[in-house]
Amino acid sequence: MMKVLEKQRLQNQIALVTGASSGIGSGVAKALAADGATVVVNYASSASGAEKVVKEITDMGGKAVAIRADVSKEDQVLEMYRQILEQFGTLHILVNNAGLQKDAAFVDMTLEQWQYVLDVNLTGQFLCAREAAREFIRRGVQPEISKAAGKIICMSSVHELIPWAGHANYATSKGGVMLLMKTIAQELAPHKIRVNSIGPGAIKTPINHEAWETPEAAAKLLTLIPYNRIGEPADIGEAAAWLASDESDYVHGITLFVDGGMTLFPGFTANG
Ligand SMILES: NC(=O)c1ccc[n+]([C@@H]2O[C@H](COP(=O)([O-])OP(=O)(O)OC[C@H]3O[C@@H](n4cnc5c(N)ncnc54)[C@H](OP(=O)(O)O)[C@@H]3O)[C@@H](O)[C@H]2O)c1
Repeated sequence: MMKVLEKQRLQNQIALVTGASSGIGSGVAKALAADGATVVVNYASSASGAEKVVKEITDMGGKAVAIRADVSKEDQVLEMYRQILEQFGTLHILVNNAGLQKDAAFVDMTLEQWQYVLDVNLTGQFLCAREAAREFIRRGVQPEISKAAGKIICMSSVHELIPWAGHANYATSKGGVMLLMKTIAQELAPHKIRVNSIGPGAIKTPINHEAWETPEAAAKLLTLIPYNRIGEPADIGEAAAWLASDESDYVHGITLFVDGGMTLFPGFTANG
């Protein structure tokens, strides 16, 4: 259940969260709304999922609308931004979250599986970040609203760092997101645009349900997580709200791993 926070760090800010009809994106949308932002809940196919998130936000007194767009399609991304600017005048926060997996052993992976994941997970982030940056530069800093002209948060993964057999397309997309994020952080800093990533570990969402829905699978997964619990979308939502707020104004060009220690190489805990 979403709770509207007393401290509204994102008041008067418009936020776009891509892929917010499910999982981590819905957790991020709710956390930003609880912190005062007006949230655009983007989705590709699940209108009912997006409407449910919008309703949860508005029921708690927050502000949200749903907009459909496939982030891998330039014309649809441009149309989504046109609608956002027409409806709200500007944008302050982009959370580049939409993403998916199409897993296959490397030797069996089809070009279609490879291309689809790269198109959504990497090209989608490029297209949405480019349009956000154009708007942030056009508008410039509004000191009464935020110290930055805009904030871009890329949803990466522990797999920007940890190789992942059977998921070459996905791991490649997240490795690409890492250098896309760092490069545009370097390039956009003079415009007072802050760019960072979040690297979630294992978070309970539909994308990885096989890894946590049976007790056996969950126990196996926990051997990879020193903190010994599987993450929830709200864990990522809290991190995103902080990264979008002025409390993190000097944080720029980093990946904040939110992973219960998965990137600590737990396989070495009792090994040598
Ligand atoms: N769950 C984890 O453990 C984990 C760990 C590390 C990183 N991540 C990353 O977190 C992000 C969200 O994953 P999740 O676990 O929350 O997955 P999820 O529950 O399957 O949600 C994926 C979201 O992405 C949207 N989406 C898919 N293709 C899209 C497209 N072409 N255009 C716009 N939206 C699209 C989906 O919308 P529709 O349903 O409407 O199509 C859905 O809202 C991904 O980038 C993923 O790589 C997840």
